[in-house]
Amino acid sequence: MTTIGIIGAGQMGAGIAQVAAQSGHRVLLTDVSLDRAETAKAGIAKRLARAVEKDQIAQGDADAALDRIEPQGDYAAFADAGIAIEAATEREEIKRAIFAEVGKALGPDAILATNTSSIPITRLAQTAPDPARFMGVHFFNPVPVMKPIELIRGLATSDATVARVEAFANGLGKTVVHANDAPGFIVNRVLLPLLNEAIFALGEGVANVRDIDTAVSLGLNHPMGPLTLADFIGLDTCLEIARVLHEGTGDPKFRPAPLLVKYVEAGWLGRKTGRGFYDYSGAEPVPTR
Ligand code: 3HC
Repeated sequence: MTTIGIIGAGQMGAGIAQVAAQSGHRVLLTDVSLDRAETAKAGIAKRLARAVEKDQIAQGDADAALDRIEPQGDYAAFADAGIAIEAATEREEIKRAIFAEVGKALGPDAILATNTSSIPITRLAQTAPDPARFMGVHFFNPVPVMKPIELIRGLATSDATVARVEAFANGLGKTVVHANDAPGFIVNRVLLPLLNEAIFALGEGVANVRDIDTAVSLGLNHPMGPLTLADFIGLDTCLEIARVLHEGTGDPKFRPAPLLVKYVEAGWLGRKTGRGFYDYSGAEPVPTR
């Protein structure tokens, strides 16, 4: 059992908290306020209750997992953490500010890992308390369901750090893959061009939202169409990743679709704001184009 500190209690942070607690770890869950961390814990309680209803886990195991999650209003308790995982908003300046703050609380052996979806690990390591004990650990959404974890080492990451994080990731029952510190790592390098191209196709009038999603979902046997998936991930996150790929490679093939930029500027960020390529205000999502 390790104490895991989690920074950011959104969909990724809460998912990581849930799987870590279900694997027997004590979890310190933080966000910008204690209130948000507590709300995230309430969401995890609901998901665990549904899993009990479906007979996927025993009531006792759900209760024990929930008890292991401790919402925190600050990082003071992170002095006990063996691994701290940052899963905050995908913006470099926010992550850097967090690392500076968390670094003051972490013990001398603690590892700081980031769930960044695409920002270079070596660059982020500059603000980490110790670049040798810093690396990327990239989970997928929804975390309790998705199997892989990408592990990304920065230039200064030590072998011991990779080994400890790999043991932790394997202990969660996930499948570990190793990626080099290249823009987008593996999955987002491959995924973002698909999502971005679907948005180009929509903007250029190739087909409407429903037909693009139906065609790609059924035609490629994907569980979700690309526009549904972009809404699910968050259009702001998609745009951030597209920009990192574009700037990081200098390759124009990664340029963000103008319609993606427009939607983000409009505040239409997908499911989390109630509107993206679909309107989520009713019982069923309704295509907006
Ligand atoms: N949290 C936890 N569990 C969830 C969940 C959530 N948010 N959403 C769905 N689930 C679980 C359900 O409880 C159910 O579990 P069960 O089968 O054990 O009962 C299972 O997922 C299937 O759910 P549903 O039957 O309700 O719905 P679907 O069959 O439509 O599946 C889905 C939902 C799993 C989200 C599926 O549509 C899917 O796999 N979509 C693709 C997801 C994907 O591509 N994710 C990767 C995104 S990229 C990424 O994360 C990288 C980042 O950097 C951008």
